[in-house]
Amino acid sequence: MKISLIVGVRPEFIQCTQVVHELSAHYETHIIHTGQHYDYVMNQVFFDELHIPQPACHLDIGSGSHGRQTGQMLEKIESTLSETRPDMVIVFGDTNSTLAGALAAAKMQICVGHVESGMRSFDRTMPEEINRILTDHCSDILFCSTQSAVRNLRDEGIIEGVYLTGDVTVDALRRYKKIAEDKSTILERLDLSPKEYFVATIHRASNTDIKENIANIIEALCASDKKVVFPVHPRTQSVLVNFGLYEKLLNAKNIQVIQPLGYLDFLQLLNNAEKIITDSGGIQKEAYILQVPCITIRENTEWVETVEDGWNVLVGTDRDAISKMISEFSPQAGQTQIFGENASKQIVNRIKAIQAGRV
Ligand code: UD1
Ligand code: UDP
Repeated sequence: MKISLIVGVRPEFIQCTQVVHELSAHYETHIIHTGQHYDYVMNQVFFDELHIPQPACHLDIGSGSHGRQTGQMLEKIESTLSETRPDMVIVFGDTNSTLAGALAAAKMQICVGHVESGMRSFDRTMPEEINRILTDHCSDILFCSTQSAVRNLRDEGIIEGVYLTGDVTVDALRRYKKIAEDKSTILERLDLSPKEYFVATIHRASNTDIKENIANIIEALCASDKKVVFPVHPRTQSVLVNFGLYEKLLNAKNIQVIQPLGYLDFLQLLNNAEKIITDSGGIQKEAYILQVPCITIRENTEWVETVEDGWNVLVGTDRDAISKMISEFSPQAGQTQIFGENASKQIVNRIKAIQAGRV
């Protein structure tokens, strides 16, 4: 059996690492890269550090409006799939690459497996929410990270082909945490002491595309009395420059602005942080597993269990509310097994069982 894995952005490279590794032991696999992320620090660094096989096919789509980017992907993925004719396509998460991959394959009647299926924020202003819903509704096999994802699918009438396997981002974290501790020199390079700094990452459209929102977030970060290390996503950098806010950030005494980091450096940075301030999906999960208090700059989250367990708190874009949370949030709670174990292995076992006609 031949399986194509379609990826295009930073979190998908991380999500696919363990899955491709496990799959390759049993099946012919190849990676299709849409090219949605392309800078070295957003792309190739992950292939190098995580030993992900080089893509068999690179579509070089690059940046663009949603319609244009997704449309170009759809066209090129379709033509790639008609040449390579895989028996199954696997897509990850909720990006434009995810939707284009799932839709192209479904229309060609190729079996679609969606990893990280069933996540919902119930906020349709979020482009990722549209991608999630459409992808789930054209997928054949739906691999869920959490119990709430299974419930969300059931509430939309999707019951067949749904499997609770656990989370593959967390799989990668467990595989690479010790390696990051041994190899990364990020704390020395940035002159940081463990648990004496915060980390911030912001890239969500709801935060970056409205000047007042991003200005409030930056002001709250600058007002912190702790050092804040801020690896700036390229989308956020260009917004900050356009809104005239980048200089303010660079001149703030407590903020250390850096380029996006490779995975090993980022894990080590996060693992040693006192708190994380973020709007990232993947980082909310990583913070939970690493027991780093997480302040999420969003009105909602798909990763509801991290909030219910007390390790993640949601705060919108009010400056004073963000500042208050940054200084006061202090989880008291223990942790539960939200994300399962060995998700990638479980996904491959499911695929083997389905292929053998045992489910
Ligand atoms: C995308 C995903 C988002 C995911 C994020 C991970 C969609 C709709 N969004 O958001 O769900 O959380 O990736 O980081 O699919 N850019 C560069 N270099 C790059 C990549 C992007 O400069 O290598 C800049 C370009 O100006 C581009 C902008 O970032 O226009 C946004 O990139 P895009 O991939 O469209 O969306 P992200 O915000 O990265
Ligand atoms: N990440 C990284 N370097 C960074 C910031 C994030 O390697 O400078 C990793 C992080 O560990 C997580 C993933 O990128 O696994 C999250 O990606 P992002 O926040 O871009 O997207 P999201 O998860 O919100 O879709």
